[in-house]
Amino acid sequence: MGLAIFGEKVAARTYVAMAEIRDEHAELLRKFAGMEARHGASFLAASRANGVEPDREFADGELGYLIEQVDRYSAERDFDALAILQGFIVESLAIATYEPFLAIADRYPGATEAFSTALADERFHVDWITRYLRLRYFDRTGEFLGLAERVNVQGIDCVGGTLMNIAGHLDQVGLSGADCAAGMLDGYAALLEDVGLEQRAALKNVTTLFAPLLVRYQRERAG
Ligand SMILES: [Fe+2]
Ligand SMILES: [Fe+2]
Repeated sequence: MGLAIFGEKVAARTYVAMAEIRDEHAELLRKFAGMEARHGASFLAASRANGVEPDREFADGELGYLIEQVDRYSAERDFDALAILQGFIVESLAIATYEPFLAIADRYPGATEAFSTALADERFHVDWITRYLRLRYFDRTGEFLGLAERVNVQGIDCVGGTLMNIAGHLDQVGLSGADCAAGMLDGYAALLEDVGLEQRAALKNVTTLFAPLLVRYQRERAG
């Protein structure tokens, strides 16, 4: 839960950083940032309603890499890198965990409403980012792939490590870290296709990115 709450803060921060770089999208992106802030607030309320105090220190440690990446790209005013980090990593991770959680959320008062609202919003955000990238890179998919790899290798590594670290908590509430990772992989491939990549190229790219993570995941489970 702490991760969801502080992850939403990272999301809000990324949209604010994006709004500061591009005037023409600033109004919309600030609205997105506001939505993320509301998700965070509604998760916090649901969390407290269930007697759970989010573990800020743990979340900060886990999200540190992402925050560092956001700060670096915003200092470089690299709008597209921020868009990819947000659309492919932050939003995808949110969707890949909120979706399975919703199936069991009715055990926790207030959670169903908070998470279904957030899930619908995240899908909308991903749609916007995908469309933006598709238009921008429609005749330059090679360049897009290069950028996506540069941004995501680090992001996925961090997110994968996090999924491993929270596997125990996920087990407790009846979710599986492997399922969440698989959901993310699936979503990631679909995103690449939506931006305009052919299915085979998308799958190849996803496999390249995720294979080291899956190997590590398996090793840690075995060991
Ligand atoms: Fe959100
Ligand atoms: Fe979002």
